Amino acid sequence: MAGEGLAGKTAVVTGGSGGIGSAIARGLAAQGVWVAVVDADERAENLAADLGGCAIVEDLSGPETPRRVLDRVLSVRPCLDMLVNAAGIQVRTAAVDIAAEDWERLLSVNLTATYRLIQAAAKALAEARGSVVNIASLSADRAVAGIVPYGATKAALVQLTKGLAVELGPSGVRVNAVAPGYVVTPMTANLLGRNEFRDRVLSRIPLGRLADGADIADVVTFLVSNAARYVTGAVVPVDGGYSIT
Ligand SMILES: NC(=O)c1ccc[n+]([C@@H]2O[C@H](COP(=O)([O-])OP(=O)(O)OC[C@H]3O[C@@H](n4cnc5c(N)ncnc54)[C@H](O)[C@@H]3O)[C@@H](O)[C@H]2O)c1
Repeated sequence: MAGEGLAGKTAVVTGGSGGIGSAIARGLAAQGVWVAVVDADERAENLAADLGGCAIVEDLSGPETPRRVLDRVLSVRPCLDMLVNAAGIQVRTAAVDIAAEDWERLLSVNLTATYRLIQAAAKALAEARGSVVNIASLSADRAVAGIVPYGATKAALVQLTKGLAVELGPSGVRVNAVAPGYVVTPMTANLLGRNEFRDRVLSRIPLGRLADGADIADVVTFLVSNAARYVTGAVVPVDGGYSIT
């Protein structure tokens, strides 16, 4: 059964103050996982207090931050079993108009920080035969006007997931991604609050509703669990069927 056997294990969840990351942290904690909730936003502290894990309030785009975050976790826990990368940002603008600093910020949060965290965690994950889940997006392989640079970071994240699955597989580390469709979170609240946009999206979702964080979290719990022991390099769409319409 998904989630079985996770009690007592250690997870790092980035973006843990956000809609999806907080649901993932809650989902793992419900299985008895000790969770380090990592986010630039201080709300991580309340969540960690609720869950009994720890909060690490840091901006992950600093070059040394991922290593520091991992060192902090390993100073209080004996090992690291799972790393879930859900921190992310979106910038909505025509690709040719994007400001240089926004382009850099997108790359640095959505791609580079994730890469550095996996790099910093690889040895500990190998010792625990642990796993990584990256939160990609439907927009990794769909061209969506207005979020082209964001989509490019997510496409790169998918390729990073597959490449690292190949390189880390022999050391026992699995690396997978989840590609959410439309999830109601602070990132999408404005957009999905517009009736016309929401109705257009809903008309393309076979399951007939938008996702919530728990829809994503349950699949992450499966991917980090022993039930997914032979799954690596997978990119699992969790989109109510949007991507097949
Ligand atoms: N909401 C959706 O519909 C949707 C769809 C597909 C993919 N995603 C992806 O899911 C992930 C979570 O998104 P969400 O919808 O929960 O958004 P959200 O805005 O609710 O959460 C994102 C979190 O990341 C944190 N964060 C941003 N930059 C950071 C930094 N430099 N250092 C540390 N933390 C930082 C934010 O503080 C926030 O808490 C993102 O990677 C997003 O791209 C979301």
